[in-house]
Amino acid sequence: MIPPATSTVQPVVDVHLGPGDLAAALRADILSGLTSEPKELQPKWLYDERGSELFDQITRLEEYYPTEAEREILSTNAATIVAAADADTIVELGAGTGDKTRALLDAARAHGRLERFIPFDVSEEFLRSTATTLAELYPGLLVHGVVGDFDRHLDRIPTGGRRLVVFLGGTIGNYAPGPRGELLRRIAAGMAPGDHFLLGTDLVKDPARLELAYDDPVGVTAAFTKNVLAVLNRELDADFELDRFDAVATWDATQEWVDLGLRSRVDQRVRVDALGLDVDFDAGEFMRTEVSAKFRIEEFTAELAAAGLDVEHWFTDRAGDFSVSLSVRRADAAR
Ligand code: SAH
Ligand code: TRP
Repeated sequence: MIPPATSTVQPVVDVHLGPGDLAAALRADILSGLTSEPKELQPKWLYDERGSELFDQITRLEEYYPTEAEREILSTNAATIVAAADADTIVELGAGTGDKTRALLDAARAHGRLERFIPFDVSEEFLRSTATTLAELYPGLLVHGVVGDFDRHLDRIPTGGRRLVVFLGGTIGNYAPGPRGELLRRIAAGMAPGDHFLLGTDLVKDPARLELAYDDPVGVTAAFTKNVLAVLNRELDADFELDRFDAVATWDATQEWVDLGLRSRVDQRVRVDALGLDVDFDAGEFMRTEVSAKFRIEEFTAELAAAGLDVEHWFTDRAGDFSVSLSVRRADAAR
């Protein structure tokens, strides 16, 4: 029997990063990151269950302005966005809790064409709870979650329908310019001509405010960054001592990004048993965990165009802190 449109449809979740794949990808990434010069860790490993919880706390911090600014933009402009996109399917990359997405889902429902929501995230815990919550909140909506990595599984996103692809939170800023262009091209390649792309980008502003947003006085952000060491201890039998590192956030005015990472307080050797690896840190040595690039509207319009995406609208919050672009995939973009 087909359920009436008012009842909850159980979400489907495809997992392309099961425990085995995750373990293999983690080992390969960490081995290359800890043996390269300078050392670095990939941001995707920040989001285990505890990391996702800490990130959710970050989004509620006074100092971390992007979440509220983006929420303001989405609630103010949701009707314009869904009317322009006229989509039956909303795909959300790096969905997290999907909290801000509700403004779009509400507006899309009111617009009358929405059938399907596809959240995509590397964090299985985050994704399952988001899929369940949203399926309950939107009776009749088909929720099809996908657990995967932007860098490997974008082509596993279910196809079909008129799409609006949503990528919020300024997560695009976690990519350096080269890989960022490549990611935008791969996203565009998964869209049909006429599909829309809604992208949240944080804007260049006063360095003091930026550094505070990524280094709050309570230390939630520091706990979030250090949590990656706990992930390595648990998953790779490493013996990192978290209090021998400081979390640091520095504005790089040349690259226009916040450089995020861990600085070793002392000379130390860390054992990563699962990799058979001993790693030496000098006192003061910095290991990057993430960059968070900030943007300028004109330059970024050109970057989107280079990926085959033509901007139709730029929205900002009243304070001018954050921006959201709505672009459409050009017919001539390479697939
Ligand atoms: N969109 C939410 C969450 C942003 S945090 C918001 O705006 O608040 C970034 C999200 O992207 C997290 O949920 C994280 O798990 C996910 N993520 C990070 N790297 C990823 C990757 N390589 N592939 C897929 N998801 C990733
Ligand atoms: N994508 C978020 C951002 O760049 C992630 C983030 C917020 C983050 N605070 C952080 C990453 C602190 C590392 C440390 O805004």
